[in-house]
Amino acid sequence: MTNNDAFVSLADVSKHFGSVVAVDHLSFTINSGEFFSLLGPSGCGKTTVLRMLGGFESPTTGEVYIDGVPMSEVPPHHRPTNMVFQNYAIFPHLNVRANIAYGLRYDKIEKAEVARRVEEALEMVKLPGFGKRRSNELSGGQRQRVALARALIKRPKVLLLDEPLGALDKKLREEMQLELRALQESVGITFIFVTHDQEEALTLSSRIAVMARGKALQVASPKDLYNHPVSVEVADFIGQMNFVKAQVMDVRNGEALLDTAGLGKITTSASSDFVRKGAAIIVAIRPEKLLLSAERGSDGRASVQGTIKTSTYLGDRNHIYVSVDGCEKPLAVATPEAQASGEKPLDRESTVWLSWADNALILLPHD
Ligand SMILES: Nc1ncnc2c1ncn2[C@@H]1O[C@H](COP(=O)(O)OP(=O)(O)O)[C@@H](O)[C@H]1O
Ligand SMILES: [Mg+2]
Repeated sequence: MTNNDAFVSLADVSKHFGSVVAVDHLSFTINSGEFFSLLGPSGCGKTTVLRMLGGFESPTTGEVYIDGVPMSEVPPHHRPTNMVFQNYAIFPHLNVRANIAYGLRYDKIEKAEVARRVEEALEMVKLPGFGKRRSNELSGGQRQRVALARALIKRPKVLLLDEPLGALDKKLREEMQLELRALQESVGITFIFVTHDQEEALTLSSRIAVMARGKALQVASPKDLYNHPVSVEVADFIGQMNFVKAQVMDVRNGEALLDTAGLGKITTSASSDFVRKGAAIIVAIRPEKLLLSAERGSDGRASVQGTIKTSTYLGDRNHIYVSVDGCEKPLAVATPEAQASGEKPLDRESTVWLSWADNALILLPHD
């Protein structure tokens, strides 16, 4: 392995189920103590990756390493991993204590030590005193904490979490997100977390692998994914983005002259290889990077005229959709509530100006 800090690594791992390619030549490394997320739509192979890490599936080709050791010959209960499943998977006929102790069933540990560790695990997931409750006496969130405690009691080095909060309602899910994060920081275990919810992944993770069709499209920190997506597909999946087609007219001294469909001719700094003279590319810009005003600005920023089509009220901000000649779709503009409801109401069909800073533009290869 090349990365010395790598604690978990997938080396060119594929998994086929008959003719279905669930995981397709996947390689990435995860450092010890990371909160690493696999993010992608349903069916993109997230669960299959976790199951291969946990030892419940074997790769068709490639190898999984944990702590430098190839895992192909290591059965699940001898791996330094433990898994929290999507469905709570706690036993209804056992009480909380017995459910958590079940995590230690393969280990020869004295009763008193088991009891001590159950209490410790209950503390960790903030359920002290719940040991005698039965599963039907618990809320969804509490059941999920029990499942977490059962996985943690093994003291795994790597905790695998498969959409553990997926079944919870939004408010509870957000609460549990904060707790999971705090828990991960306090125990220092490497978390590998699966979700299809981009907001959840951005909130929790130190790094995220954005997946599609069994492949990793990009592996980066939440900030980098948001500000420097490598493709239209990633940019579209992470937050909201406006896309405008463009033709590269010229590239000189790190500056590209672009002829865009709707934003006019613009000059912007460009260092990527795909920005070559004559290439068709995509210019992306986040809704919050577009500034909307009734008059044309005089600050010399690039700007374009448009017409307000619709506006969506989101409480703390508005999304206003502005149609611009030449643009395929109306551009989404995020404005703070105050500005949107300001002295001069912005009516439908009114003419407005959109402006942006040069560094707000993200250049992407045409798919
Ligand atoms: N045991 C299996 N047998 C056949 N196909 C499977 C099996 N497990 C997963 N798949 C297929 O592999 C692909 C990836 O599945 P999965 O890893 O569960 O995706 P995700 O967790 O991202 O929703 C899907 O097309 C799924 O139908
Ligand atoms: Mg899944």
